Amino acid sequence: MALTTPATRPANPRFSSGPCAKIPTFKLELLQDAALGRSHRAKVGKDKLKAAIEGTREILGIPADYKIGIVPASDTGAVEMAMWSLLGARKATMVAWESFGSGWVSDVVKQLKIDADVLEADYGKIVDMASIDYNTDVVFTWNGTTSGVRVANGDVIPADREGLTICDATSAAFAQDLPWDKLDVTTFSWQKVLGGEAAHGILVLSPRAVERLESYTPAWPLPKIFRLTKGGKLIDGIFEGATINTPSMLAVEDYLVALDWARAEGGLKGLMARADANAKTVWDFCDANDWIANLAEDPATRSNTSVCLKFTDDRIQDGAAFAKAVAKRLEAEGVALDIGAYRDAPAGLRIWCGGTVEQSDVAAMLPWLEWAFHAEIEAQTEAA
Ligand SMILES: Cc1ncc(COP(=O)(O)O)c(C=O)c1O
Repeated sequence: MALTTPATRPANPRFSSGPCAKIPTFKLELLQDAALGRSHRAKVGKDKLKAAIEGTREILGIPADYKIGIVPASDTGAVEMAMWSLLGARKATMVAWESFGSGWVSDVVKQLKIDADVLEADYGKIVDMASIDYNTDVVFTWNGTTSGVRVANGDVIPADREGLTICDATSAAFAQDLPWDKLDVTTFSWQKVLGGEAAHGILVLSPRAVERLESYTPAWPLPKIFRLTKGGKLIDGIFEGATINTPSMLAVEDYLVALDWARAEGGLKGLMARADANAKTVWDFCDANDWIANLAEDPATRSNTSVCLKFTDDRIQDGAAFAKAVAKRLEAEGVALDIGAYRDAPAGLRIWCGGTVEQSDVAAMLPWLEWAFHAEIEAQTEAA
């Protein structure tokens, strides 16, 4: 079979799940107002950090009585400081259905050694969120970046829960509707949905999470980088832009620019619509081709950001080698970068569909995926 390459290429071949594609309007000159070489504690620096916090609140619709802090070490830093500062006061429930959630399970069970129920589901599936005892502290990931499976909504989380819900929402924030009243701790990082720079995380605390912080002291020592309280009181400054340690003012400027772009795109609604349209383009492609399918089994749990795909063709001999070879072909053609499945996930592809990706680029890339699939089937047959 003669395989012809598609006529058009995506203008931007960046479909990585993190760091994700930068905003479509990005150019370095947009960062020229960065407070470079200035103290983050000077007025100019503090004002920018405050604007980043309040811009986050505005776009994500975070309630006025929730605290928002910029913290070190990206999303991992935010999740770890929450777990190490808050857990241990009551029993925990650790929930995981892919690699990142499993990492949090291991931290809590093996490092913190907290009394915890562990609820896990395989890649492609999700834990039944209705089966959880919300009088325990529940740690879960809203959007499983490595399986492309997300929580459909927070309806089953009771308003009158006694435990805290601690949610890693890094690949959900700015693309999915997060029910703030059901989330006591929410974390994400700048390098994900808004295509920002790595290094910094965002920690969002509900009034109940603050109450826990001020009434409970963990039995273990906390490094300075995790400390959110002093003398039993929340360090308010952290949530007003007085960061624990020195932030990158370049990364802050980049985040402010991304927030401006998000505003211009219609805020959260606009960002969700962009991600939905991108993901639908991939889902429709899967529906039209019987050799590829969404890894998420239940359509209600399909991610609109980290869309994970598996090859389903019987002719494929070695699934992992095949998926890698397809991703390599696409990378070599310069039409899709970084779309191999996560290293711990089942063999396949992962196409980032968050709002910074243009739908026209997804649409232009998919015929190349079809081309690469057939080319690889042919190569495999020739090698046999
Ligand atoms: C669900 C989830 N949690 C945590 C992380 C780690 O994020 P970071 O590298 O920003 O700390 C990632 C990164 O991809 C993720 O997808």
